[in-house]
Amino acid sequence: MQQRPAILVARAIFPEVLERLRQHFEVSYNGHDEDWSPDELIRRLQGKVGVLTTGSQRIDATLLRACPQLRIVANMAVGFNNFDVAAMTAAGVVGTNTPDVLTETTADFGFALLLAAARRMVESEHFLRAGRWDRWAYDLFAGQDVHGSTLGILGMGRIGQGIARRGAHGFRMRVIYHNRSRLDPTTEAECRATYVSKEELLRQADHLVLVLPYTPQNHHAIGAAELAMMKPTATLVNIARGGIVDDAALAQALRDRRIAAAGLDVFEGEPKVHPDLLTVPNVVLTPHIASATLATRLAMANLAADNLIAFFTRGEALTPVNAPQPQAGAPRAAT
Ligand code: DGY
Repeated sequence: MQQRPAILVARAIFPEVLERLRQHFEVSYNGHDEDWSPDELIRRLQGKVGVLTTGSQRIDATLLRACPQLRIVANMAVGFNNFDVAAMTAAGVVGTNTPDVLTETTADFGFALLLAAARRMVESEHFLRAGRWDRWAYDLFAGQDVHGSTLGILGMGRIGQGIARRGAHGFRMRVIYHNRSRLDPTTEAECRATYVSKEELLRQADHLVLVLPYTPQNHHAIGAAELAMMKPTATLVNIARGGIVDDAALAQALRDRRIAAAGLDVFEGEPKVHPDLLTVPNVVLTPHIASATLATRLAMANLAADNLIAFFTRGEALTPVNAPQPQAGAPRAAT
């Protein structure tokens, strides 16, 4: 009997997805969801031709050199800043991500964070739970309106467009956006979104949502200088990646009321959170859960699994992020 390919599932996933993988592969599994070090990951990858990762395992040149049998890395995430894509391509290793299946769920959450921050929902809930609510007051936790305001979006991919549609059609917002490249006129019209420069975006937005991928060029795309350009009544929402915002500068801007509020689902160096963010009241903090509904996380896990299955059965991954794709069975390029 032909030996089945050996793969590693590097984090705990849904049992039914694991079961599907076991029908095709010899699976080693991080069932206890241990936080493996880079060296431990390399050790576990010995002899494995594929791996299912979740975005917190770094795939770089060192790992690729140490794991010469590895052929494909299937991320259970749409973002893939844990990949050194150039090193993977040079090594002949395919990387895949999980686009589309999480778009609407993540856009919902971006909007939820925007509403929660602008309308001070978490701050006021803490006040109530602490037993401090003793009367109605005209200005008690008065925040900023969302309907009819100007929604700014930095990064206008699928999720950005989902947020634009919610704002424009649901909340009658004026939508402005900045992106590496301008959308085609049909998509702009569907989203009722107007392209502006980054500076105009910062200056005009009442609520600014960040949905751009993390790259070294985007590191601290929002720092002290950018925060200083925003309206003092503005809300900032980050559902993109930690590192896009300078968290220390943001905490300072929130403390100084340089901007009114923020909603953050991602953090520099997460799961650690900058201590200053934990002590400012006007920020809503969530632990990287924008795509976390059971249905969407299951769809993401299934798509990651489908990528592995398609690669080894048909020689082609479904949603690769790099090229060329070596054919299954062909030797990997020398690293
Ligand atoms: C993604 O898909 O990139 C998310 O951030 C992980 O949940």
